[in-house]
Amino acid sequence: MSNTAQELKAEILRLTRDYSALVHRANRAGTENSVPFEPGKTTVPYAGRVFDQDEVEAAVGATLDFWLTLGPEGEAFERELAGFLGVKHSLLVNSGSSANLIAIAALTTHKLPANRRVQPGDEVITVAAGFPTTVAPILQVGAVPVFIDNDPATGNARVEQLEAAFSPGKTKAVMMAHALGNPFDLSSVLEFCRRHDLWLIEDNCDALGCTYSMPIARANALGIIENSPGIPANGTHVTRYTGTWGDISTQSFYPPHHLTMGEGGAVNLVSRPPLKTYAASFRDWGRDCWCASGKDDTCGKRFNWKLGELPRGYDHKYIYSHLGYNLKPLDPQAAIGRQQLKKLPAFIEARKRNWEVLREGLAEFADKFDFTLPTHATGWTPEGFTWDATGCRTECSWFGFMLRVKPGAGFTHTDLARHLESKKIGNRMFFGGNLLRQPVFVQLRKDRPSSFRVLGAMPGADEIMERALFLGTYPGLTTTMLEYELQVIRDFVRQA
Ligand SMILES: Cc1ncc(COP(=O)(O)O)c(C=O)c1O
Repeated sequence: MSNTAQELKAEILRLTRDYSALVHRANRAGTENSVPFEPGKTTVPYAGRVFDQDEVEAAVGATLDFWLTLGPEGEAFERELAGFLGVKHSLLVNSGSSANLIAIAALTTHKLPANRRVQPGDEVITVAAGFPTTVAPILQVGAVPVFIDNDPATGNARVEQLEAAFSPGKTKAVMMAHALGNPFDLSSVLEFCRRHDLWLIEDNCDALGCTYSMPIARANALGIIENSPGIPANGTHVTRYTGTWGDISTQSFYPPHHLTMGEGGAVNLVSRPPLKTYAASFRDWGRDCWCASGKDDTCGKRFNWKLGELPRGYDHKYIYSHLGYNLKPLDPQAAIGRQQLKKLPAFIEARKRNWEVLREGLAEFADKFDFTLPTHATGWTPEGFTWDATGCRTECSWFGFMLRVKPGAGFTHTDLARHLESKKIGNRMFFGGNLLRQPVFVQLRKDRPSSFRVLGAMPGADEIMERALFLGTYPGLTTTMLEYELQVIRDFVRQA
């Protein structure tokens, strides 16, 4: 770049920072130096983008560079995200839903041994209540989701149902989400997967930065020996981030999530290197070649392959091993993600803090609400959680603060949701609730009854659908907003 170009770019970026400092004040982390908060007038979002000049400068800088397609920023972000988590590779994609699609598609490759490959009609165990695109990709690759119930206390799978859901020769994988930043019982799920030689896909879209710990002997028996990077050894437990225990995991970087790049997501390949090549192939048109964007001949034999029925030497760039997609994000998005990743540790702490503020602030209403418990916790006090006897522990990087309205409360979760909405307080139900009650599954039951299997009644998923809602915990919430939110809920409950 010429001196003049460099100077111009520096000037544009300086002005960009000034501009962002002026107009994006409302998007700073939960400090009170943002725009004035007017109770009842200013919306308290349940989630949103939290950024400063760094992200805006990065986006403008990458746009000026005009690489556009996934390139140098993308490669750097993939390396940095994999490094943060302590996984072999991360592949950027254009959404969490795409990440889930690629994760399961990667397991359909003919390059896997037949007994491990997910083939049409094979079964994948999942959970009834949650986000639809944790489940839809299972059907989209021709596999059969087998639904087990949720434990309403945690939002996660009732792992005691796993064995009953298993079908010898048919079950190939477990694919489920860590609900709202609450890790599922990884110890039990992994033991089940090891026992039956199954893949585990962790949908970590709502749980970046959560950790799960298990006693060292237990972890070693499951073949897990190392802590995640940056987590000090404590001599008794192995502690890793969620998304690093199974074979593949996924992230969403849509704005409500723990970090954002606008639209975006990632597929994390935890341990087995060939999975990266399969996942990349499905992301990148189904091609056999694994060159990064703008690169040629990474394999060193671009014109020497003999694959399919193509003539020897056919250009590897145009050899297709899979029925693939193109699900890549843009380089400026990755540039934003890289800046967000630097802020992630502070974001995680803020989410934990905000959850505690809400939990403590609503503790007096234990007769009206059932509060979500982290997996393995048995109770909450202001001093901390009490834990079950497994020795396993969870530390939640909360996506939201979920509660269930008790049946005799005098109001329903919909009443509360409506009231909060009228007071401009953002809230959400637990995504699709019991997905099996959604129009899409009701129709599927009629059109293709054998396309999914359900393990009996789903009372836990129904309870979540009928009684739960969640409030935000995102780092953009200020103390004033949280206090207002608590006051509104207190007034509502006392009047009910
Ligand atoms: C658990 C879970 N999985 C997947 C997704 C899909 O992510 P995206 O919106 O980026 O497609 C979401 C979305 O919030 C989610 O909550």
